[in-house]
Amino acid sequence: MPNALVSGVSRGLGVHLCRALRAAGYRVLGVGLSPSPRGDHVDDYRVVDLREPLADDLFAAEDVDVLVGNAGVYLDDPRSGYGDLFSLTPEDLRDTFEVNLFGTARLVLRYAPGMLARGSGRIVCVSSGMGRLQDADGASFAYRSSKLAANSLVLSVARHFAAAPGDLASFAYCPGWIRTGMGTPHAPGEPAPAADDLVRLLGVPAARSNGRFFRGLGELGWDTRGPMVPETG
Ligand SMILES: NC(=O)c1ccc[n+]([C@@H]2O[C@H](COP(=O)([O-])OP(=O)(O)OC[C@H]3O[C@@H](n4cnc5c(N)ncnc54)[C@H](OP(=O)(O)O)[C@@H]3O)[C@@H](O)[C@H]2O)c1
Repeated sequence: MPNALVSGVSRGLGVHLCRALRAAGYRVLGVGLSPSPRGDHVDDYRVVDLREPLADDLFAAEDVDVLVGNAGVYLDDPRSGYGDLFSLTPEDLRDTFEVNLFGTARLVLRYAPGMLARGSGRIVCVSSGMGRLQDADGASFAYRSSKLAANSLVLSVARHFAAAPGDLASFAYCPGWIRTGMGTPHAPGEPAPAADDLVRLLGVPAARSNGRFFRGLGELGWDTRGPMVPETG
């Protein structure tokens, strides 16, 4: 049975990702902040604060066949009263990057080499359309730029995967605006179908998924050419 390692499994999209992965035949390994994920959607679980370096023995005896970097924070969310760019504190900028970029990168750097050595694997970063330069606005700079950087990580891994023999793919996935703690109860979408779509994409041949950015089952794409700000005058 293949192993899927998912970050952030006690609430939000992560719970549904674990359920969908198990239904698809994966053994699910989870990491997250919560002391316990509560529920039977995870086969093995370790408390991991992604702002910190990973323990050397984190699932060291396991082959991770699929890595889903799902954990994320949106600290500078204007919907919860955060101001625009000029209200952003350096601490919130750093904490956002600690989870959304460094935490994801720690997992990728730990488990991608095993995939390369075995010649098979999937790495998925749960990203956001807000991480595209063309979607930038004057707020949420920490969240947007951390997702932009995570997208760049996906592409860097994809270059390595494309150059290696085997069945290897690294892609970014935007779930759309969904009803979770982060998405708020006002979101139009449900997390369960978004999780199902991500798991379906794991079965897409690497030639059609490596280095892509998906939203649902469709390709969202990276950035279009600028100008990225409205022209004036
Ligand atoms: N909701 C949306 O509308 C939306 C839209 C686009 C993209 N996304 C992306 O989808 C992903 C999941 O978001 P969500 O909506 O499910 O958010 P959520 O309900 O707020 O859940 C956030 C998850 O991140 C984990 N997490 C936060 N800080 C962590 C840390 N320091 N170490 C380890 N884990 C940490 C939490 O772990 P615990 O479970 O242990 O608490 C939790 O599972 C995120 O990457 C988000 O950016 C969401």
